[in-house]
This record gives sequence, C-alpha cells and structure tokens, in this order.
Amino acid sequence: MTGRIPQQFIDELMTRVDLVEVIDARVPLRKAGRDYMARCPFHDEKTPSFTVSPEKQFYHCFGCGAHGTAIGFLMEYERLDFIEAVQELAARVGMSLPQTEASPAAAAPKSKDLHELLAQATTFYRRQLREHSQAKRAVDYLKGRGLSGEIAAEFDIGFAPAGWDNLLRALGNGAQARLVEAGLLVEKPGGGYYDRFRDRVMFPIRDPRGRVIGFGGRVLSDDTPKYLNSPETPVFHKGRELYGLYEARKALRQFDRLLVVEGYMDVVALAQFGIRYAVATLGTAITREHLERVFRVVPEVVFCFDGDRAGREAAWRAVENALPMMSDGRTARFMFLPEGEDPDTLVRKEGQESFEARIANSVTLSEFFYTTLARQTDIYSRDGRARLVELARPVLSKVPDGAFRRMMLERLAEIARMDVAALRGLVGAGKIAAPARPRPVARTAGSVARSPVRMAIEMLLYRPELARIAGDPQTLAGLDVAGADLLVKLLELLQAQPHLNAGAVIEHWRGSQEGRHLATLAQWSPTVPEGVDAEFSGTLRRLREQALEQRVEHLLHKDKVEGLSAAEKDELRRLLPLAKGSQK
Ligand code: UTP
Ligand code: MN
Repeated sequence: MTGRIPQQFIDELMTRVDLVEVIDARVPLRKAGRDYMARCPFHDEKTPSFTVSPEKQFYHCFGCGAHGTAIGFLMEYERLDFIEAVQELAARVGMSLPQTEASPAAAAPKSKDLHELLAQATTFYRRQLREHSQAKRAVDYLKGRGLSGEIAAEFDIGFAPAGWDNLLRALGNGAQARLVEAGLLVEKPGGGYYDRFRDRVMFPIRDPRGRVIGFGGRVLSDDTPKYLNSPETPVFHKGRELYGLYEARKALRQFDRLLVVEGYMDVVALAQFGIRYAVATLGTAITREHLERVFRVVPEVVFCFDGDRAGREAAWRAVENALPMMSDGRTARFMFLPEGEDPDTLVRKEGQESFEARIANSVTLSEFFYTTLARQTDIYSRDGRARLVELARPVLSKVPDGAFRRMMLERLAEIARMDVAALRGLVGAGKIAAPARPRPVARTAGSVARSPVRMAIEMLLYRPELARIAGDPQTLAGLDVAGADLLVKLLELLQAQPHLNAGAVIEHWRGSQEGRHLATLAQWSPTVPEGVDAEFSGTLRRLREQALEQRVEHLLHKDKVEGLSAAEKDELRRLLPLAKGSQK
C-alpha cells in the first residue's frame, strides 16, 4: 500500500531517482561490470556480495538475500517509514509531494527549517555546558550521577542555563515564531517570548535518521516536574519516538534485540556500561507505533519494568499492544527490576554482565501473560480454568495467525486442560498477520528451475522496453501456467508506461502479491544479457504457441464432453491449423 501518495507520483519519482547515487552516498560502491558492488550493509561480510543494478534500479545481496528499490533501501537502511523514504527521495530529485491531508509532506519545507533550528539549539546547549558561567553546576550534577564525559558527548547532552532569554538571545533573531513552533520558545500572552527550557540538563531526542526533533530537560535538583519535554510540534510526536534508537544504531552495526526502558538516564547509563541497545519511551506508555518502530529494526524486544505494581500494570499494557504485532519470527520478553531500582542505578551497582544476565533471564511474553492471568483465577478448579480462558480469549483473538498464536493456544490448552481444537474455535480466527521483517535467507543460485514465463519476466525487469516488441499481452491471457497472469499484467503496465524501470514497477505494486513476486524475480539476471532481444521474442513466441495449444486442447475437450457454441466452433476451426502439438 502506498498510503495516500498518488501512484503517478511514485512512478515518476522512481524513474527520476538514481539508486546508485542514493546507496553510494551511504555505502560507497565500486563498479563491477554493469553493476556496482559493496560489502553488504545488512549483514557482516568480508567479501562483497551486495550488488546494485543501475538498469533495474534494484539492489540485491546474494549473501543474505536483502533486496529492494531506492524506497526500500532507505526504509531498511535509514529505518524510515514509507512516506519518509518517499519524501527523502523526492527532495533529492526536486519533486514536491502532492498535498494530501494525511501526508505530513505538506509540512516538509517547514520541517526542514525546524530541524535546522533544533540542530542549532543542540549545539547551543552543548556549548553552554562547556562555557556558561553556571556550567559547573550542571557538570557537577552529571558527574554526581556518574556520567562519563564521553557518554555525555555521545548523546550530545547539554545545558540550558537559568534565565528567561539565553536561547532567545542566541538564536531568536528573526526566528522567534519558528522557535515557538520548534517548541523551544514560549510566546507570552502579552507579546514577547521566553525560553521554554531553563536551568535544565538537556537530552536531545533524535529521530531514526539522527535529526534532533525535540528535547527532554531535567532539573538539577529534586524539584518537580523532574523532566520537561518538548511539546508536540510538526516534527515531534512523543508517543512515537524512542530515545536512543539512533544512538544504538550508530554504535552497533548489527543488533538483534532492543531493550525498552523508561528513562533518558537509563538509556545513557546502560550505554555507558556497554549495553548499547536500550531505548526509552518519552514518559508515555509503550504504543503500537513504538512497537512498529522497534520491530522494523529488530525481531526481538525486551521490556524492562519496575518490579512494583505500577511496573506490572505498565507491562500488561505493553502486552496488550504487543500481541497484535506478534507475527512469525518476532519475540517479546519482560524483565522486572528489584524494587527501588531502575536500570540506571542497577547497572551502576552490578555492571554490564549481571545486568545482561537479567536480560537473558527475562520471561517470555507467553509466560508473563499466563502467569498474570493465573494470578487472577484459581486454575486448580474447573471454574477457575474456564474463567482463565474467558480472560485470555479477547486478548488472544488479536494475535495474528502463525507460529506464535499456535504456541499461545497450545499453552492455554495445557493450563486450562482443554483440547487445542476446541480452544481454537472459542478464540476465533486470528487477525491477518502484519508482515514480519523478512529475515535474510541464503539463496542458492540455479537451484530454482526457471520457466519461460519466469525468464520473460526477468528479461522485462532488466529491459522494460522489451514490452514494446511483445505484441498484444491478451494473447497470453489464457495461458495456464504459473506466473502467466503476472506476465500479462507486467506487459500491460510497461506498454502503457514504457519508461518505468524494474524498481519503479516494484514500487508501483508495493504491498501486493505482484510486487513481492517481482522483487524476488528482480534478483536474477537474464542468462544472455547481450542477445536479450532475440531471446525475449523467442520466449514469447513459445509462450504464445503454448497458450494456443492449451486453448485448442480445451476446446477439443469441451467439444467432446458438452459441445461447443457456434462462436467456439469458429474459434476452433481458426486455431486448429495454427496449433502444432494438438492433434496427438
Ligand atoms: P523517571 O522518573 O523514572 O526518570 O521517569 P529517570 O530517567 O529515572 O529520571 P532520573 O533518573 O531521576 O533522572 C522516566 C521517564 O519519564 C519521563 C521522562 O522521559 C523520564 O526519563 N518523565 C518523568 C517526564 O516526562 N516528566 C517527569 O516529570 C518525570
Ligand atoms: Mn532514574
């Protein structure tokens, strides 16, 4: 699904963008024959198996199977969502997104402005931590909490001095209104402005691409509110962001799980102690949007909560949000800390190894789910077990179909001493699974037989202009072999829009079966790139003959069993002499 961006816009964008440039700016490429190569950014390797095809506008790693278009690359590599990736590419080629109410694109030029101001503010606060006359207090505070200078620098921690107009004077010149929009200044009712953040240690919050979008500011004392966060702005949405995600990705090229904690300080302290994969929500409960972000990056999430009652309640809310997202391959676990501790205090006390041992001992989602329910019922009585099923039912019905759901049902069957099949009926069909992030699968080239249809599609992806010499796609429509429908559709699309490259075609069908099939096929190169024109017409000729023979056979068969209409008789008379193999 392309959201609400018009198809035409994507088609156009994909023919203007150059994938080689997009990737080369992030992963330096080396020319190798017609393609470009690099060490794959999606898995660790010593010798390059990541190839980028300028013709197809498609990349593919034959080591780990990662593949996709320019949009797909930005989504994977920069962890952007679809709209963000489209925005980024559009900005690159100077296209502006059509204005639609649902796309944040309308705010694009403005948000660029805001990002710039927020970056300036980050620098400003950093400088105050070194230079301002009050800086010593802030530095002492951070030192007192055990932060090293390196880690403070890495997270760009800064200081907003006491006073009403430090930032205003430094950045305000002509930019007051935009600084208000960025959440950094507050407008006075009677006119004029003042600094929102005063006398606070400043934690810049970055989006997945590393742009500062807001701040959390902590008082240096025990005053309340302890933290002040940026308000909602065009670029900052508290319920969606995860503090530390960018920093985690920067520190670790590859990681398999994220630890979700509660506080800024927790993320920073864990990082200081070598646990670089912690992120924090910004003082809100974990939302679906958070989890979508998490699962876009890793297949496993570990939630870290306080061991007290509030912690368990928060954990239960996380369960309710996580269950609908547990499609195959994803896992979620829960760890509970001793009372009175948070990750910051605990990791400083125990160190990395012990803390990671706690992570390793965390309970699975399923375990936490059923122990929580079992605590509310008496599972030793029949009534109690029935009650447990009742409690589990509405929650489980939200779990997508797949291995996880099966496992949850089996476990429930065990606890409730019921038959799995009966339970399945009770709980009802699962929701359609959100597609899991595909795990890389090693491919063995040549192990898959390539049918003529498949070869024709591969050739078209490589040289879309071949569609021009393909004749009428409808003459292949009746062909009863795998992929024929797709070939017909592809030919029709390319005859209507001959300038589309493979990447554009794949994006044209993003989210659909066609798109997925084509993305798989685009990983192959035609066997004879040189004589591809002749091979293509030869293949199509054979397919047409096959279609014809199948049609003739069908008519002959129908003639025998139920008789033919006049039109069908005509058709058969016309086709029979053309078909070679049909008279056997
Ligand atoms: P905590 O109070 O657990 O924060 O709140 P913390 O990180 O352990 O704070 P320190 O260690 O005393 O510095 C967890 C998170 O909740 C949000 C912040 O995002 C904080 O990191 N919060 C907390 C607020 O937004 N406002 C508050 O007043 C308090
Ligand atoms: Mn704390």
